[in-house]
Amino acid sequence: MNTSKWTVAADHAGSNPAITVAAELRKVEDKLAQLLNSRETLIAEICRYLVNAGGKRLRPTFVLLVYRACGGSDKRLNDAIDTAIAMELIHSATLLHDDIIDAGTIRRGKPSAFKLYGLGPSLVAGDYLFARAFELCGRFEENLVRTAAQACVLLTEGEVMEGRMRRNAQVTLEDYLGVISRKTASLFRAGAEVAAQLAGDQGKAAAMGRLGDAFGLAFQMIDDLLDILGPEEKIGKPVGSDLRAGIPSLPVVLGVERDSRLSGLLHAEAGVDGLGFERALELLRSPDVVDRARALALDQVAIARDALSGLKPSPYRDSLAVLIEEQVYREL
Ligand code: FPP
Ligand code: MG
Repeated sequence: MNTSKWTVAADHAGSNPAITVAAELRKVEDKLAQLLNSRETLIAEICRYLVNAGGKRLRPTFVLLVYRACGGSDKRLNDAIDTAIAMELIHSATLLHDDIIDAGTIRRGKPSAFKLYGLGPSLVAGDYLFARAFELCGRFEENLVRTAAQACVLLTEGEVMEGRMRRNAQVTLEDYLGVISRKTASLFRAGAEVAAQLAGDQGKAAAMGRLGDAFGLAFQMIDDLLDILGPEEKIGKPVGSDLRAGIPSLPVVLGVERDSRLSGLLHAEAGVDGLGFERALELLRSPDVVDRARALALDQVAIARDALSGLKPSPYRDSLAVLIEEQVYREL
């Protein structure tokens, strides 16, 4: 395919996001490791297993860049670092719980905690991480704690909404956007709003919320696309996992809209399996579906870039632009 068609002008390619906030991220890693030290060794082991399993620290990097890009000084840096850690803790908690709900056996290319330690221990380890996140940021102003709590409410609702829509060939693009704005974008949105307010720039909170929202939506759309494109080594789980589980991912929703043969395959009670699975995967990989999914992700990238344009020029703003582009390009 012609990749230039999807190129978003990468005019800040020199700004490596993780390097721009490297000192802050080191503090995140140190404190995160401390927080996983439960008195109960099984909890500590499960939490370390997941948190150290090769996650990209995308959420902490994003939050710290937003904080700095909004002019955040060293004055509230510790609070911004705690927000970044809380994002990673909450995200990790949702992954532990998500694998229980989905009976997911592979996560980040390794057996999931659910597979290795079982339902009960993984459930409690998720609760532990979740509680640690709120312990960490509970001292913040009431409106900031509420913003974070509301994002968590949305996460739970997104997960249940998605479950309700499984194996349902009637799911529309609007339904899909409702699910991913809750299950993925809500945490990015809340993190960005909190970071802007900690930086002392109340006026930027709404624009940073829009940035987080658009980034989260684009990220999830590309994740969904990767699920059908693979390869397994790149995505850390078997290709077509969403399809097999009947999850209305972006390619599935777009595919069903375009090709009635897919509806029949999605209805299958036991999930799309065997020959039906291979056929469905092939239909979902059609340029019609893939190009439309990419275009939708790029619409969100444009919204994110627009939100960034209101910030003063800085290496942090440039790195945010690069971070967004990296997430879209990881699929190409
Ligand atoms: C992973 O996405 C799942 C989520 C982003 C949301 C999960 C939310 C819950 C389990 C609700 C409970 C939450 C709290 C606050 C502890 P995915 O299924 O698209 O990703 P995957 O393909 O990697 O599993
Ligand atoms: Mg899942």
